Amino acid sequence: MSSLTSADLHTDPALFAGVDVYAVAGNPITHSKSPVIHQHFAEQAQQKMHYGRLQPDINAFAVAAKAFFAAGGKGMNVTVPFKLDAQMFADALTPRAQQAGAVNTLWINDGKVWGDNTDGAGLVRDLLAQGIALHQSRILLLGAGGAARGVLGPLLEQSPKCLVIANRSSEKAGDLVKLFANLAAANEVALESRTLLELEDSTKTPYAFDLVINATAAGLTDDSPLSAGAVANVFVPSSFAYEMVYGKTTAFMRQALQRGARVSDGLGMLVEQAADAFLLWRGANLATAIDPRAVLTKLRS
Ligand code: ATR
Repeated sequence: MSSLTSADLHTDPALFAGVDVYAVAGNPITHSKSPVIHQHFAEQAQQKMHYGRLQPDINAFAVAAKAFFAAGGKGMNVTVPFKLDAQMFADALTPRAQQAGAVNTLWINDGKVWGDNTDGAGLVRDLLAQGIALHQSRILLLGAGGAARGVLGPLLEQSPKCLVIANRSSEKAGDLVKLFANLAAANEVALESRTLLELEDSTKTPYAFDLVINATAAGLTDDSPLSAGAVANVFVPSSFAYEMVYGKTTAFMRQALQRGARVSDGLGMLVEQAADAFLLWRGANLATAIDPRAVLTKLRS
């Protein structure tokens, strides 16, 4: 297996001869860990495949994806900022991709391009693997954009006691509560929204949380969505803080550590969502042949 450049994927069909080709598309994409993660899975499951990187221009995802599949590409992972474009590009969506409002995995089946979203399942599996109990827990989800929406369904399906969505602007958090009201009711979850400011007010946020997930874009710039007042309200030493960004200790993680809470970055989620994509592409029967936790250990070493 080797990594191909976007130019190779488009211009040299000979590279596809006899080997299934996959790619991750994003912009920027040079630092993506997806190729090395899939290389580990391919080795574990003894699969012969290429997995490369594609960097479409910001407004040209559909053109690049069309060219990739026309040249024989079998499947694609999609990352920032193309998850909505990927949803529009797909001919058919799985129920969880519809629910997430975004697609991170594409593949061909019966002549159609299918779209799924494995982010939420990946997050839940990483949390459970880290020993975090979700059933009957109190969860605070920070952010109400695409990243938050993408994980909301799988989190609600774990039947936490309550899930509070807190966002800078109130409207988007309220919209998500409405969108997921039925799923919350079916899983007996108290689903509520707050503004980030309201997290500072102990009458509006009267209890700390077992799990606080940062799904805002603030982690990318090393800002935290939480003010000092909010930090004092939401974290206790038994809390667990999960940052969706990976590879660094962010301001959000430092705040949690200062309150004595445990923290995690999002590398495990990245590996687990990749595992689901790999199984969609190569066959669910390979589930026992791959070991995402071993891949995660290798990436961290
Ligand atoms: P993504 O797909 O990564 O979720 P998005 O849909 O643009 O991207 O959403 C970004 C989220 O991060 C939003 O919830 C945004 O809050 P607003 O809806 O109020 O804009 C949040 N966000 C971005 N920067 C932030 C910051 N510095 N502090 C707090 N929240 C921030």
